[in-house]
Amino acid sequence: MGKDVIVACDFSSKEATIAFLDKFQGKKPFVKIGMELFYAEGPSIVREIKARGHKIFLDLKLHDIPNTVKKAMSVLSHLDVDICNLHAAGTTAMMKAALEGLTREDGTRPLLIAVTQLTSTDQESMEKDLLIKAPIDEVVMHYAQNAKNAGLDGIVCSPLEAGKVHDYCGKDFLTVTPGVRFADGDAGDQKRVMTPAAAKAIGSDYIVVGRPITAAEDPVAAYERCVAEFCD
Ligand code: C5P
Repeated sequence: MGKDVIVACDFSSKEATIAFLDKFQGKKPFVKIGMELFYAEGPSIVREIKARGHKIFLDLKLHDIPNTVKKAMSVLSHLDVDICNLHAAGTTAMMKAALEGLTREDGTRPLLIAVTQLTSTDQESMEKDLLIKAPIDEVVMHYAQNAKNAGLDGIVCSPLEAGKVHDYCGKDFLTVTPGVRFADGDAGDQKRVMTPAAAKAIGSDYIVVGRPITAAEDPVAAYERCVAEFCD
Protein backbone atom coordinates (compact mmCIF):
# COMPACT_ATOMS: atom_id res chain seq x y z
CA MET A 1 0.00 0.00 0.00
CA GLY A 2 1.20 3.51 -0.71
CA LYS A 3 1.11 6.57 1.48
CA ASP A 4 -2.37 7.59 2.56
CA VAL A 5 -4.26 9.91 4.87
CA ILE A 6 -6.53 8.09 7.35
CA VAL A 7 -9.40 10.19 8.73
CA ALA A 8 -10.14 9.46 12.41
CA CYS A 9 -13.95 9.40 12.52
CA ASP A 10 -14.24 10.01 16.25
CA PHE A 11 -18.00 10.43 16.28
CA SER A 12 -20.43 8.92 18.77
CA SER A 13 -23.15 7.88 16.35
CA LYS A 14 -23.76 6.46 12.91
CA GLU A 15 -25.79 9.55 11.94
CA ALA A 16 -22.93 11.95 12.70
CA THR A 17 -20.44 9.72 10.89
CA ILE A 18 -22.53 9.30 7.76
CA ALA A 19 -23.37 13.02 7.67
CA PHE A 20 -19.63 13.71 7.80
CA LEU A 21 -18.77 11.18 5.06
CA ASP A 22 -21.60 12.51 2.87
CA LYS A 23 -19.62 15.73 2.49
CA PHE A 24 -16.97 13.83 0.52
CA GLN A 25 -18.95 13.62 -2.72
CA GLY A 26 -17.24 11.04 -4.93
CA LYS A 27 -14.17 10.80 -2.67
CA LYS A 28 -13.50 7.80 -0.49
CA PRO A 29 -11.06 8.68 2.30
CA PHE A 30 -9.47 5.87 4.33
CA VAL A 31 -11.48 5.86 7.58
CA LYS A 32 -10.41 5.04 11.14
CA ILE A 33 -13.15 3.62 13.36
CA GLY A 34 -12.23 3.72 17.04
CA MET A 35 -13.71 2.35 20.24
CA GLU A 36 -16.28 5.13 20.69
CA LEU A 37 -18.03 4.59 17.37
CA PHE A 38 -17.61 0.80 17.41
CA TYR A 39 -19.02 0.43 20.90
CA ALA A 40 -21.88 2.80 20.07
CA GLU A 41 -22.92 1.19 16.81
CA GLY A 42 -21.39 -2.29 16.71
CA PRO A 43 -20.07 -4.16 13.67
CA SER A 44 -22.85 -2.84 11.41
CA ILE A 45 -21.13 0.56 11.21
CA VAL A 46 -18.02 -1.15 9.83
CA ARG A 47 -20.07 -3.00 7.21
CA GLU A 48 -21.92 0.17 6.25
CA ILE A 49 -18.79 2.28 5.77
CA LYS A 50 -17.11 -0.57 3.89
CA ALA A 51 -20.15 -0.88 1.61
CA ARG A 52 -19.79 2.83 0.81
CA GLY A 53 -16.37 2.02 -0.63
CA HIS A 54 -13.98 3.21 2.10
CA LYS A 55 -10.89 1.41 3.35
CA ILE A 56 -11.08 0.95 7.12
CA PHE A 57 -8.58 0.96 9.97
CA LEU A 58 -10.41 -0.63 12.93
CA ASP A 59 -8.64 0.85 15.94
CA LEU A 60 -9.74 -1.39 18.83
CA LYS A 61 -6.30 -1.98 20.40
CA LEU A 62 -6.83 -5.56 21.59
CA HIS A 63 -4.94 -6.74 24.70
CA ASP A 64 -5.84 -10.03 26.45
CA ILE A 65 -4.59 -13.60 26.76
CA PRO A 66 -3.43 -15.05 23.42
CA ASN A 67 -6.39 -17.42 22.99
CA THR A 68 -8.97 -14.67 23.56
CA VAL A 69 -7.23 -12.28 21.18
CA LYS A 70 -6.90 -15.01 18.55
CA LYS A 71 -10.65 -15.70 18.66
CA ALA A 72 -11.56 -12.00 18.65
CA MET A 73 -9.29 -11.37 15.65
CA SER A 74 -10.92 -14.28 13.85
CA VAL A 75 -14.28 -12.53 14.28
CA LEU A 76 -12.82 -9.21 13.07
CA SER A 77 -11.28 -10.87 9.99
CA HIS A 78 -14.83 -11.46 8.69
CA LEU A 79 -15.57 -7.73 8.86
CA ASP A 80 -13.22 -7.27 5.90
CA VAL A 81 -11.37 -4.26 7.31
CA ASP A 82 -7.98 -3.22 5.93
CA ILE A 83 -6.02 -2.60 9.15
CA CYS A 84 -6.52 -3.91 12.73
CA ASN A 85 -4.41 -3.29 15.81
CA LEU A 86 -3.43 -4.52 19.28
CA HIS A 87 -1.13 -3.62 22.16
CA ALA A 88 2.43 -4.90 21.79
CA ALA A 89 2.48 -5.08 25.61
CA GLY A 90 0.35 -8.22 25.27
CA THR A 91 3.63 -10.04 24.39
CA THR A 92 4.98 -11.77 21.30
CA ALA A 93 2.85 -14.85 22.04
CA MET A 94 -0.31 -12.72 21.95
CA MET A 95 0.73 -11.00 18.72
CA LYS A 96 1.46 -14.34 17.01
CA ALA A 97 -1.91 -15.71 18.16
CA ALA A 98 -3.60 -12.56 16.85
CA LEU A 99 -2.07 -13.05 13.41
CA GLU A 100 -3.25 -16.66 13.34
CA GLY A 101 -6.77 -15.61 14.25
CA LEU A 102 -6.81 -12.82 11.71
CA THR A 103 -5.70 -15.00 8.80
CA ARG A 104 -8.68 -16.24 6.78
CA GLU A 105 -8.97 -19.73 5.34
CA ASP A 106 -7.78 -18.50 1.93
CA GLY A 107 -4.60 -17.09 3.52
CA THR A 108 -5.60 -13.41 3.19
CA ARG A 109 -5.83 -11.07 6.18
CA PRO A 110 -6.06 -7.39 7.10
CA LEU A 111 -2.80 -5.66 7.98
CA LEU A 112 -2.02 -5.94 11.68
CA ILE A 113 -0.16 -3.20 13.52
CA ALA A 114 0.82 -2.73 17.17
CA VAL A 115 0.52 0.12 19.62
CA THR A 116 3.84 0.35 21.48
CA GLN A 117 3.64 2.80 24.39
CA LEU A 118 0.62 5.09 24.15
CA THR A 119 1.56 8.70 23.52
CA SER A 120 -0.32 9.51 26.73
CA THR A 121 2.28 7.49 28.67
CA ASP A 122 5.46 9.35 29.54
CA GLN A 123 8.71 8.28 31.14
CA GLU A 124 7.49 9.10 34.63
CA SER A 125 4.18 7.20 34.44
CA MET A 126 5.90 4.26 32.76
CA GLU A 127 8.43 4.04 35.59
CA LYS A 128 6.00 4.67 38.45
CA ASP A 129 2.91 2.80 37.26
CA LEU A 130 4.37 0.09 35.06
CA LEU A 131 7.76 -0.35 36.77
CA ILE A 132 9.50 -0.14 33.39
CA LYS A 133 12.81 1.60 34.00
CA ALA A 134 14.32 1.73 30.49
CA PRO A 135 14.19 4.98 28.47
CA ILE A 136 10.82 5.24 26.71
CA ASP A 137 12.47 5.49 23.25
CA GLU A 138 14.20 2.19 23.89
CA VAL A 139 10.94 0.61 25.05
CA VAL A 140 9.13 1.79 21.91
CA MET A 141 11.89 0.39 19.64
CA HIS A 142 11.95 -2.90 21.58
CA TYR A 143 8.17 -3.30 21.29
CA ALA A 144 8.41 -2.45 17.57
CA GLN A 145 11.06 -5.15 17.14
CA ASN A 146 8.84 -7.64 19.03
CA ALA A 147 5.95 -6.78 16.71
CA LYS A 148 8.18 -7.34 13.70
CA ASN A 149 9.49 -10.65 15.07
CA ALA A 150 5.90 -11.79 15.64
CA GLY A 151 5.19 -11.16 11.95
CA LEU A 152 3.12 -7.97 12.25
CA ASP A 153 3.11 -5.36 9.51
CA GLY A 154 3.98 -2.24 11.50
CA ILE A 155 3.21 -0.03 14.46
CA VAL A 156 1.28 3.05 15.49
CA CYS A 157 3.73 5.69 16.65
CA SER A 158 4.39 9.39 16.83
CA PRO A 159 5.62 10.79 13.49
CA LEU A 160 8.68 11.89 15.47
CA GLU A 161 9.55 8.20 15.95
CA ALA A 162 8.77 7.00 12.42
CA GLY A 163 12.28 7.48 11.02
CA LYS A 164 13.91 5.62 13.89
CA VAL A 165 11.38 2.77 13.65
CA HIS A 166 12.28 2.36 9.98
CA ASP A 167 15.99 2.35 10.88
CA TYR A 168 15.38 -0.43 13.44
CA CYS A 169 12.76 -2.52 11.66
CA GLY A 170 13.29 -1.80 7.98
CA LYS A 171 11.65 0.49 5.45
CA ASP A 172 8.81 -1.91 4.72
CA PHE A 173 7.67 -2.03 8.35
CA LEU A 174 4.68 0.34 8.38
CA THR A 175 4.51 3.43 10.54
CA VAL A 176 1.00 4.74 11.11
CA THR A 177 1.21 8.11 12.82
CA PRO A 178 -1.37 10.26 14.63
CA GLY A 179 -0.43 13.62 16.15
CA VAL A 180 -0.62 15.53 12.87
CA ARG A 181 -1.46 19.22 12.68
CA PHE A 182 -1.27 21.92 10.02
CA ALA A 183 1.47 24.50 10.54
CA ASP A 184 -1.20 27.17 11.16
CA GLY A 185 -3.50 24.84 13.15
CA ASP A 186 -4.41 24.25 16.80
CA ALA A 187 -2.53 21.37 18.49
CA GLY A 188 -5.40 20.80 20.99
CA ASP A 189 -4.46 18.06 23.48
CA GLN A 190 -1.75 16.55 21.24
CA LYS A 191 1.67 17.33 22.68
CA ARG A 192 4.17 16.25 20.06
CA VAL A 193 2.81 17.20 16.66
CA MET A 194 4.07 17.34 13.10
CA THR A 195 2.67 18.73 9.84
CA PRO A 196 1.62 16.32 7.07
CA ALA A 197 4.60 17.50 4.97
CA ALA A 198 7.06 16.87 7.83
CA ALA A 199 5.50 13.44 8.48
CA LYS A 200 6.06 12.63 4.81
CA ALA A 201 9.67 13.80 4.96
CA ILE A 202 10.40 11.67 8.01
CA GLY A 203 8.95 8.58 6.34
CA SER A 204 5.50 7.98 7.88
CA ASP A 205 3.53 5.52 5.75
CA TYR A 206 0.08 6.64 6.90
CA ILE A 207 -0.98 9.71 8.85
CA VAL A 208 -4.06 9.52 11.08
CA VAL A 209 -5.81 12.89 11.18
CA GLY A 210 -8.87 13.63 13.27
CA ARG A 211 -9.89 17.10 14.41
CA PRO A 212 -7.86 19.09 11.84
CA ILE A 213 -10.31 17.52 9.32
CA THR A 214 -13.45 16.65 11.34
CA ALA A 215 -13.62 20.03 13.10
CA ALA A 216 -12.60 22.11 10.07
CA GLU A 217 -15.04 24.59 8.58
CA ASP A 218 -14.51 22.80 5.27
CA PRO A 219 -13.54 19.19 6.06
CA VAL A 220 -13.13 18.20 2.42
CA ALA A 221 -10.70 21.07 1.79
CA ALA A 222 -8.77 20.15 4.95
CA TYR A 223 -8.60 16.52 3.82
CA GLU A 224 -7.37 17.58 0.39
CA ARG A 225 -4.74 19.80 1.98
CA CYS A 226 -3.49 16.77 3.96
CA VAL A 227 -3.39 14.65 0.81
CA ALA A 228 -1.55 17.37 -1.12
CA GLU A 229 1.04 17.78 1.64
CA PHE A 230 1.48 14.10 2.48
CA CYS A 231 0.81 12.03 -0.64
CA ASP A 232 1.66 14.16 -3.68
O1 C5P B 1 -8.08 14.63 16.44
P1 C5P B 1 -6.69 14.04 16.34
O2 C5P B 1 -6.01 14.34 15.01
O3 C5P B 1 -5.81 14.37 17.52
O4 C5P B 1 -6.97 12.47 16.34
C1 C5P B 1 -5.94 11.51 16.38
C2 C5P B 1 -6.54 10.13 16.42
O5 C5P B 1 -5.49 9.19 16.60
C3 C5P B 1 -7.53 9.90 17.56
O6 C5P B 1 -8.50 8.96 17.10
C4 C5P B 1 -6.67 9.29 18.65
O7 C5P B 1 -7.41 8.47 19.51
C5 C5P B 1 -5.69 8.48 17.81
N1 C5P B 1 -4.41 8.18 18.47
C6 C5P B 1 -3.56 9.17 18.95
N2 C5P B 1 -2.37 8.82 19.56
C7 C5P B 1 -2.04 7.54 19.68
C8 C5P B 1 -2.86 6.53 19.20
C9 C5P B 1 -4.07 6.90 18.59
O8 C5P B 1 -3.84 10.35 18.82
N3 C5P B 1 -0.87 7.22 20.23
